[in-house]
Amino acid sequence: MIGFGRMGKAIALGLSRANIDKESIIVYDMLPEVLEEASKLGFKTSESASSAARQADVVIVAVKPGDVEKALKSFADEVSGKVVVSIAALIKLKVLESIVPKSMVYRAMPNIAVEINKGFTALTPAERKNDVVEKVFRVLGEVMWVNEKVLDMLTFFSASTPAIVAELYDAFLLSALKAGVPYHVARKAIATVFQGVGALTALKEVSSIRDSVITPGGVTIRIIEKFYTYGAKQKLIEVLRDAYEEYEHMLNN
Ligand SMILES: NC(=O)c1ccc[n+]([C@@H]2O[C@H](COP(=O)([O-])OP(=O)(O)OC[C@H]3O[C@@H](n4cnc5c(N)ncnc54)[C@H](OP(=O)(O)O)[C@@H]3O)[C@@H](O)[C@H]2O)c1
Repeated sequence: MIGFGRMGKAIALGLSRANIDKESIIVYDMLPEVLEEASKLGFKTSESASSAARQADVVIVAVKPGDVEKALKSFADEVSGKVVVSIAALIKLKVLESIVPKSMVYRAMPNIAVEINKGFTALTPAERKNDVVEKVFRVLGEVMWVNEKVLDMLTFFSASTPAIVAELYDAFLLSALKAGVPYHVARKAIATVFQGVGALTALKEVSSIRDSVITPGGVTIRIIEKFYTYGAKQKLIEVLRDAYEEYEHMLNN
């Protein structure tokens, strides 16, 4: 694991939660204090990127997009014939391949829920699937092979949206607290609603979930009515559309 920031750590923790031996996860990070943290968590650490890459079968690059080129160059000589997976947003396969041309290069786009093995990871290129890469990320949650264009879209819709879902959760939490629900009860109840409905959406249409909660003239229909008449859903769609346009601009420049 090259880079042990928020995502590198989340992946490493998810792997270890799935009983993958911590000693088999070799971590390198530029920051000595981060390496020390990795070591305290039980992961094997390495003094350099090239030494970590030399010992590894699969190298996962989990540094910020602006640091990817430098990170890849730091171990390029050690990964001939090996699998290298970048989880960086924005950096295209052809750029990665130009830096480590003798490696089998993949891109993965996980989200932060990999830490508890409930993540979603998009993998590319779909026309060159790799069992080992798939196995690593399948341990961390759901996996789908997609083309690179879709992976770039999912960077927005799967990797970034946990932040906005957390904000939605917070809006519910604050409203429950305003109404007087005890804090620990509100947290538990709302988190469980998000988890339960999240799981239901995989099985049922959204309209069917909504309609099975509404009673004519009851409580839920009042919330739904205000949700639409206040324009809350439309606003959210507009927020996502505008932010996606900005993201597309970043992607293409
Ligand atoms: N956060 C997410 O939810 C998420 C989801 C999907 C994908 N990603 C992608 O994951 C990547 C990492 O994101 P993050 O949020 O985990 O970032 P982060 O918290 O900043 O972690 C990156 C870590 O890598 C270190 N680093 C930088 N250059 C290095 C090098 N050459 N060799 C070794 N370590 C190096 C950084 O040190 P310094 O702090 O000194 O730079 C930092 O500790 C990004 O490319 C992002 O696009 C993130």
